[in-house]
Amino acid sequence: MALVKTETDGQVCTVTINRPDKLNAMNTEVAGELVSTFTEISGDDSIRVVILTGEGPKAFSAGADIAYMAGISADESVRYAMLGQQVTNTIEQAPQPVIAAVNGFALGGGCEVALSCDIRIASENARMGQPEVTIGIPPGWGGTQRLMRIVGVANAKDLVYTGRMVKADEALRIGLVNKVVPQESLMDEARDTARAIASNSSMGVRMSKVAINRGRNADLDTGLSIELLAWRNSFTHTDRKTMMDAFLSRSKK
Ligand code: COA
Repeated sequence: MALVKTETDGQVCTVTINRPDKLNAMNTEVAGELVSTFTEISGDDSIRVVILTGEGPKAFSAGADIAYMAGISADESVRYAMLGQQVTNTIEQAPQPVIAAVNGFALGGGCEVALSCDIRIASENARMGQPEVTIGIPPGWGGTQRLMRIVGVANAKDLVYTGRMVKADEALRIGLVNKVVPQESLMDEARDTARAIASNSSMGVRMSKVAINRGRNADLDTGLSIELLAWRNSFTHTDRKTMMDAFLSRSKK
């Protein structure tokens, strides 16, 4: 049984972490499959948008595998964290936007994987947090870096130092998720958002993702230079002419 499932419907690929008996906790096998799945998707131009979720009604992912971490050495822990960072980097750097459909617990590595996605839509039963300090470690799959970039340093320190879980309404209030919907509507909402993105120019969307992601970690001048390159690149693609011509011919009617 695959630990990571994929299902493609038109231009939208849904990736599901499939280890529900362990609340989709990510051992090395799950993490490895996530890397290979997102590497493959990254090279597939027919896929315009990806939805990432967890199997079952309880969890997106309860994080890194504590049973595995309990028995490993410091050197092995570095290899595991590097694998986890490879998961989050591969998702973040995928050319396609990735929507996290957070269908329950997203804790530790699960929250960090959601943070590496472009958009987070949560169900009302979602519980998110970075509880690593409650088991003796700091976040290690990007959480000390990405969380503060998304919710601000003060909120990130609150969540990381206390290890507390936030409910969906607080996650929405602090900007940890974009939207909260009833659990039964979660996948429909994620698919609607995915289809709305997929109906736009793939080049326009991809260049926007590159410019936002690269610019976020740069000073304003560098970010604006990246934006210019992304802008120019879009003018080399057929979408620009086709879509601008379509707009102009429509406005003449
Ligand atoms: N790693 C390994 N196994 C995990 C896990 C994790 N991160 N999270 C849950 N599981 C396993 C449990 O051990 C249990 O396995 P078992 O049935 O073989 O005993 C199964 O998943 C179900 O979890 P359980 O704890 O029984 O569910 P619950 O509804 O009582 O509690 C949570 C849910 C999420 C609150 C609780 O599982 C939890 O705190 N998990 C750890 C979260 C965490 O600290 N993640 C960060 C890791 S860095």
